[in-house]
Amino acid sequence: MTPSPATPLELTGPEMRTLVDAAMNRIVVHLESLPEQPAFDLDGAAELARSLAEPMPERGVPHDQALDLVFRAAPKSFNTAGPGYLAYIPGGGLFHAALADLVADAVNRYVGVWLAAPGLAQLEANVVRWFSEIVGYPPAARGMLTSGGSLANFSAIVTARRERLPADFLRGTVYASDQVHHSITKAAILAGLPPERVRVVPSDARFRLRLDALETLIAADREAGLEPFLLVTSAGTTNTGAVDDLEGAAAVAERHGLWHHADAAYGGFFALTERGHRVLRGLERADSITLDPHKGLFLPYGTGSLLVRDGAALERSHALEAEYLPPMQEDAEFVDFCQISPELSRPFRGLRVWLPFKLAGAGAFRAQLDEKLDLAHWAHERLREVEGVEIVAEPQLSIVAFRLTRPGLDADGMNRLNRELLERINARRRVYLTGTTVRGAFVLRICVLSFRTHLERMEQGLQDIRRAVEELR
Ligand SMILES: Cc1ncc(COP(=O)(O)O)c(C=O)c1O
Repeated sequence: MTPSPATPLELTGPEMRTLVDAAMNRIVVHLESLPEQPAFDLDGAAELARSLAEPMPERGVPHDQALDLVFRAAPKSFNTAGPGYLAYIPGGGLFHAALADLVADAVNRYVGVWLAAPGLAQLEANVVRWFSEIVGYPPAARGMLTSGGSLANFSAIVTARRERLPADFLRGTVYASDQVHHSITKAAILAGLPPERVRVVPSDARFRLRLDALETLIAADREAGLEPFLLVTSAGTTNTGAVDDLEGAAAVAERHGLWHHADAAYGGFFALTERGHRVLRGLERADSITLDPHKGLFLPYGTGSLLVRDGAALERSHALEAEYLPPMQEDAEFVDFCQISPELSRPFRGLRVWLPFKLAGAGAFRAQLDEKLDLAHWAHERLREVEGVEIVAEPQLSIVAFRLTRPGLDADGMNRLNRELLERINARRRVYLTGTTVRGAFVLRICVLSFRTHLERMEQGLQDIRRAVEELR
């Protein structure tokens, strides 16, 4: 036997340390400068992107060269990890989770089947159990971590469809408000339902699903020979942060035998706080719940989750056997994640939630979320004092929506005015806000959800809003 040839794919201990140190040096500089970095910077970004297109390299380059390239590209972007990111739904980027990913990827154990790594699968199962406790689910609940809220919503709809409809399911109808996230319709389509089977239920003055309209739609569909099977509520809409009446929705769903899925991707983790828990009353009555740790727990992108109150339903809708797989667990104490999710091979996502909770404690998350509620209320109070500003949606959680009004302007003129306002606010690059359209009106929204956003940055944002309003007067 000749000795194995050296390969750049197998690193020695010192080489690994050198690489990690080189990356860490750049990461620390990058993260420590986040507050000074602009809230977004796309100047020259398209040219940069073009310049980075390249053929597959046959030979490697020195690590400094490769890392420098990444850290040159990173700042030309929305600064999604920075304190001024109040756009869309902010992600986060807890460093603890990045460390967990490094460990998980380096160890590269497989947690999809319990038998393959029982201890590590247990850490992930712990995380799911903690989430169930946060939302008030019983011990029979089960759940899994997904790549995000969209995939969680997809598995929820497949579960509901398989639990409530026959194999011939095309007469099934889904109900959600006109404010629901588009991933619900996408999930329904992916689950095989024609898009028109997703009924749009009007929302009330506070953008919450109207239960009376829901009842009317269900009755009409039954009358027409269709099969209402799923109600999707929003526990924090993306547009305005509206939380549907979850208690009332649960009662309607129970009365009509519908599966009730709560999309709590944005709002669900506020249940960790006392105030959030009150706003989310009734969440525990939903049959399934989507939570997005990469939103409400400040994790890096790529971590969502789905919880199902009757965990056995998740298994009934996802489990399959194959002769080449190892034996699955009969014992309800243990879980084979591949049997309750669409994925077989997948990353060990549990560690990126488990490690931050272990290192920082749940109290740190609760305090952060409480602060976000305070900051959104603070912003609301300040905005109310700005002449000409109309509050479109008061914060129910941590989003406030507003717009500038001017007497005599028609709807188009108002929309143009508010687009201009948004541009002027963002031009200062201390905060980055996004707008949306509700009931035909373009509105601006502030979504506070980063563990790096504190009062100081909110004050700067409010200053920039006031100045932009002044300029447009
Ligand atoms: C309410 C809501 N549901 C679902 C999603 C989709 O989640 P993801 O982007 O993680 O797929 C989002 C994303 O912003 C959301 O706000």
